[in-house]
This record gives sequence, structure tokens and C-alpha cells, in this order.
Amino acid sequence: MHMPIHPNFMALLFFFFFCQSLAFATTYNILDFGAKPHANSDSTNSLSKAWSLACASTKPSTVYIPQGRFLLKNLHFKGPCRNKAITFRIDGTLVAPSDYNAIGNVGNWLLFEGADGVTIRGGTLDGQGAPLWACKKSGRNCPTGATTLGFSNSKNVAVSGLRSLNSQMFHIVINGCENVKLQGVKVLASGNSPNTDGIHVQLSTGITILNSKISTGDDCISIGPGATNLWIENVGCGPGHGISIGSLGKDYEEAGVRNVTVKTTTFKNTQNGLRIKTWARPSKGFVKGVFFQHAVMTNVQNPIVIDQNYCPDHKNCPGQVSGVKISDVTYQDIQGTSATQVAVKFDCSKRSPCQGIRLEDVKLSYKNRAAEASCSNAAGTTAGIIEPSSCLY
Ligand SMILES: *[C@@H]1O[C@H](CO)[C@@H](O)[C@H](O)[C@H]1NC(C)=O
Repeated sequence: MHMPIHPNFMALLFFFFFCQSLAFATTYNILDFGAKPHANSDSTNSLSKAWSLACASTKPSTVYIPQGRFLLKNLHFKGPCRNKAITFRIDGTLVAPSDYNAIGNVGNWLLFEGADGVTIRGGTLDGQGAPLWACKKSGRNCPTGATTLGFSNSKNVAVSGLRSLNSQMFHIVINGCENVKLQGVKVLASGNSPNTDGIHVQLSTGITILNSKISTGDDCISIGPGATNLWIENVGCGPGHGISIGSLGKDYEEAGVRNVTVKTTTFKNTQNGLRIKTWARPSKGFVKGVFFQHAVMTNVQNPIVIDQNYCPDHKNCPGQVSGVKISDVTYQDIQGTSATQVAVKFDCSKRSPCQGIRLEDVKLSYKNRAAEASCSNAAGTTAGIIEPSSCLY
């Protein structure tokens, strides 16, 4: 039987395929490029090929990593790309080489550079850092180690539901970026692993870190020079060294840190809670406009600390003072327990004293008794309950 095809039907059909081509991203499954889901077969070239195609596509595209463990050497995902909507959908685990020498001197294991509009959803990154940590602790000569996941000079990046395990060095580094949102990130490494910072942000603006949990051996989140408009909310830290602005002021010419919000955080058994740290060296750096709100400390060695006398090994700075100017820093609703007597410490620069420190509803105890506060060169105001009582002038 002959069915005449109505012209409207043709139009509809055409419209349908047209919409599909817009709505559905092309998917590049790394298995189609020879990747093998077990960690004794190198999948570096397969993922590299999938990225090249996704990046060359003029349509939104997805790089798909299915379940399994995929061994990868260091990879550089370099933009610009021909579309601004590339998604990495990861169901499996990406595994770094077990021999740390393979990537120990290249800086980054997985690096995005010059990317615009990259999303990473799910997945586990296993840096296999433990042998390198052991090497470092033995005092032998070891490579520096690689950052697990880096974003450099990139914008409009979203990362959600990602787990990073046992990085050789820092877990995630955001450098020179704009508009990056990390959420539901889990970082897990041993409490005595060296230099395994959870998330490091520098020279970047409009960075948001939400709903994340970071257990590691170094800073939970570290904030370097030139971080502005940074928003951190609902983050749990511990073990580790807490959330740190700094170290800053190592260089004389240095970009400042401005407009940082750290809201609803918990710290458990960490070395620090909320810290600002600068080298005791001349610098044009500054920290201006920080809002620490709603933090709960459990057995934290230095719950609130500004340390402007950082001079490791007393090298290159003895007898000097920090030039970094710290101003407008608010601590609001900070509660819990200190693991040491001094729960609040403002050790500011003699040359550029801290200004506009504001304490509001701070309640920190030590062994069920009042803790102590210690101040030098720190000016500011208080409101509400302040325990230990303030020593700001
Ligand atoms: C401060 O940063 C937040 C994002 O973290 C932004 O929404 C706000 O506009 C910034 N404020 C100023 C004065 O730039």
C-alpha cells in the first residue's frame, strides 16, 4: 500500500532531527578508543583521543569513562575548543601510575588549560601517592610529585561529585581561572601525608566551593595570592591543616586576596581552623574583606589564627616583618573546642598592623575551661559573646 507522506510530516521529521542535533551531545566513550577497564593497561592515548574529538566538535560533547579502573599517565587537556560545553562523565576510577617517577616531575597529572565550559561529573581520581610520601619522609631524594587535577587559565568550569584519593602533591589546583564551581567533592588522603592540600585557589576570581569533605595531610583549602570573590560553603575539614589564606607575601610584588567568604564549616582534629598566614618579608600583598561565618571546631589546635611571622627554618626572613596588610576580617559565630590553651591568636605585622578585625559571637573552650586569646598589632571590634575575651585594641 502506498502511503503518501504529508509535507507537514516531513517538516516535523526535519524539525525533530534538527532539535536532536542541538539537544544531544556527541558522546565519546573511551572504550571505543581502546581503553581497557583494568589498571594494568595504559589508557592514556584513548582518553587523549576522546578529548581531541570532543574539543574539535562544534557541538556540545561528552567524554564518557565507564566503570572500571583506567591507568593514565599525565594528560594535558588543552583549549581553546570549538565548543563551550564539554562534559566528562565518569563512572569509573582514573588511576595514576604506581611508580611515582612516571609523573613525579611533570607538575600535574591531569591538567586542563585554556578550557572554557568544561564540566566533570562523578568519578574517582586515584593519585597513588603513598609511595612518594614514604620516599619524602625517608629523607631520600624524591620527585616533587604531581597535582592530581589542575585547572589553569580556564573559565566556566563545573566539577561535581568527584572523589580524589591519595594525591602525590595537591589534590585540586585552580590557577588563573574565572567562574569555577566545585561541589560535592571528596578528598581523602592520610592525615600525615605531606603537601597533599585538598583544594588550592590562586590568581582566580569567582570560585565557589560547596558541600565538600576534605580529609588530608595538609591544608583543607589553601588560598593563594590573587584569589578574589571566593565563596566557600558547607565544607568539612579534618584531618589536615584547616582552611588557610596563605602563605602570602613571599614575593614583594604580589596580587592581593579580596572578598572571601567561608561559611558553615566544620573542623575536626585539624592543626588550624581559620588561618591567615604571611611570610615575615617585605611585600605589597594584602588581604582585604574576609567573612568567616558559622564554624564548628572540634579539638582544633589553632581555631582562629593570623600568623604574620611565618619564616620556615628561619631562612630568608630572620628579623624581618611582613608587609602584607590585613584588613576587614570578620569572625561570626565560631564555636567549639580548642586542643591548645590559645584558641584565638592574632600575631600581626608590626609594620602593617591588622585593621578592622571583627569578632562576633565567638565561643571557644579548652578542656572545658576558658581558653586564651593572644594579640599583637591587631585592631578591631567585638559584638555578642566573646570567649576567650578579646585582646584587640
Ligand atoms: C564578593 O564575592 C561574591 C562571590 O563570592 C560576589 O557575589 C560579590 O558580588 C562580591 N562582592 C564584591 C563587592 O565584589
